[in-house]
Amino acid sequence: MNEHTLSMRLERVAANVPLGARLADIGSDHGYLPVALMRRGAIVAALAGEVATTPFHAAQRTVRDNGLEPRIAVRLADGLAAIEPRDGITAISVCGMGGETIRDILERGKAYLNGQERLILQPNGGEQPLRHWLMDNGYSIVREELLRENRFYYEIIVAERAGPVAYTAEQLYFGPLQMQARSPVFLAKWQRMLSQKRKTLVSLKHARQAVPEEKVQEIARQAKWITALLA
Ligand SMILES: C[S@@+](CC[C@H](N)C(=O)[O-])C[C@H]1O[C@@H](n2cnc3c(N)ncnc32)[C@H](O)[C@@H]1O
Repeated sequence: MNEHTLSMRLERVAANVPLGARLADIGSDHGYLPVALMRRGAIVAALAGEVATTPFHAAQRTVRDNGLEPRIAVRLADGLAAIEPRDGITAISVCGMGGETIRDILERGKAYLNGQERLILQPNGGEQPLRHWLMDNGYSIVREELLRENRFYYEIIVAERAGPVAYTAEQLYFGPLQMQARSPVFLAKWQRMLSQKRKTLVSLKHARQAVPEEKVQEIARQAKWITALLA
C-alpha cells in the first residue's frame, strides 16, 4: 500500500469522503489517504494529524514527495486538536484504530467539531461503544460498509449530526444499516463471531479461576443475539 495504491479498506474509506471535501485525517500514519485523494482531485484541502513522531515524519515525507505541502497540512497533535477553525474542515476520517480509541478521540475532541462534518470511521473492533457515542451525541449512521481483506473483517461507519437518534441495543451491536441489508459478508462475519463466542463460553466454563458472572452473562447475551440474527 502507498499513496498510489490504497488497501481495499482505505479505498472504501476514500469512497465515503464527499467530492470536494476539506478532509482531516486523524491518525494518518503515512498520510496515504489524504495524499491519494488529493492526487485524484477528489478533495480540495486536507490535514493529516498524528500523535506519534515517526508516523508524523512519514506523513510529512509523503506530502513533500508528492509536492502537496501547500494543500495538505501535517500536524503533530492528539486527535482532533490537529484541527484549526481556519481549516474549514467538512469531513473527518479516523481509521485503523480500536473503536474505543476512536470514541475517546471524538469525546476528547468535541470542542473541535462544528457539527457539520461528515465522520468516516473505520474501527478495528469496538464498533458497539463507538456507535453508542455517535447516538449519544446526535449522530445518525448514514452508511455502513463491511469488507474482508487479508482474512480480517473491517467496518466503515459514516455518520452525520442530525439531531436526536435512538438505536436499539442490537442495532448498536450489529450496525443498524448492516442489520437491514444482511449482506453475505455480514452474515459470514457473524457466523464466525458466533463460533468464537461459543468457544469462549466453553473455555470460561472450564476456567480454573473464577470469571465474573457478569462477563459470562454478557457473552451469553451476545451469542443469543447472534443466533437470533442468523436464524
Ligand atoms: C494503525 S495506524 C492507522 C493508519 C491509517 N489511519 C490507516 O487506517 O491505515 C493508527 C495511527 O493512529 C495514530 N494515533 C493513535 N492515537 C492517536 C491520537 N490520539 N491522535 C492522533 N493519532 C493517533 C497512531 O500513531 C498510528 O499512526
